[in-house]
Amino acid sequence: MNRAKQDQEGKLKGIIPRGGMEKRPGQIITVFSSKGGVGKTFVSINLAVSLGQKTGGKVVLVDLDLDFGSAALSLNIIAPCTIWDLVTEIPGLDLEIMENYLVNHRSGIKLLAVNPQQQGSGAINREDIKTVLEILRSGFDFILLDMPSRISEPLEPAFQAANYLFLVTTPEIAALRNIKSCLNKVNCLKNLSAVTCIILNKADFRSELKPGDVEKNLNCRLYGVLPLEQRLASSSLNQGIPVVLLRPRSRISRGFQDLAQRLVVQEKETVFPGNI
Ligand SMILES: Nc1ncnc2c1ncn2[C@@H]1O[C@H](COP(=O)(O)OP(=O)(O)O)[C@@H](O)[C@H]1O
Ligand SMILES: [Mg+2]
Repeated sequence: MNRAKQDQEGKLKGIIPRGGMEKRPGQIITVFSSKGGVGKTFVSINLAVSLGQKTGGKVVLVDLDLDFGSAALSLNIIAPCTIWDLVTEIPGLDLEIMENYLVNHRSGIKLLAVNPQQQGSGAINREDIKTVLEILRSGFDFILLDMPSRISEPLEPAFQAANYLFLVTTPEIAALRNIKSCLNKVNCLKNLSAVTCIILNKADFRSELKPGDVEKNLNCRLYGVLPLEQRLASSSLNQGIPVVLLRPRSRISRGFQDLAQRLVVQEKETVFPGNI
């Protein structure tokens, strides 16, 4: 690694205060789209691992697709306990108890899983979600929320607590129309302060809509562009290994590393303006 890159990496790692300095609350990144299959889970997982690798910080991925979540499956994790079990611990819940419900992944990230077979075994309400997020924020540097494809009342705090709202789309007119309605719906929620970032996933040079067309259509700059890599994505899913671990030098993994880098630089600029 050259000197400039080493300096940059060192500065990025420096975003996570170690010892002495007071720890700032973790950053919540909510990954959403009201369309299924665009890659919310894929993006949440690979961004979580990339952020951990880039910063050396504490990262937790929360599967908030409460009924059909597949994050554990994608990480080849069998979770002994899930968010459905965790909420039975509220109101006495604290970080120490929370740790018992998180599963370690070999990448260093932790997962708060769901088990689709448990769906409907009790209600999770907005206060539960608020409490879980507040506690996670006190103990982790990055909290990635993998969302379902609809905004339900109990999950509204996942938007309201977000520092970043990652809206995932694909290069198709239907998906773009969907993102516009997502933006409308999300903007109707009260107390929203997240920075909205549009991520174009499954970008393909053969597709009629290029990233520039997507930007024109949505009238905004894309925050990240991730290429379509069908074979890699499917073998990552089949093996339960995030693509950034399976093939770290592939184009798609570099896309995730760039995304993590951009986020961390932006964070550092927010915390220490003019100091990067
Ligand atoms: N960039 C990509 N290239 C190819 N396939 C992808 C890409 N991103 C996601 N996929 C695949 O698309 C499918 C849906 O992804 P998933 O993350 O489950 O979507 P969502 O969570 O939005 O429903 C999965 O099979 C996943 O492996
Ligand atoms: Mg999903």
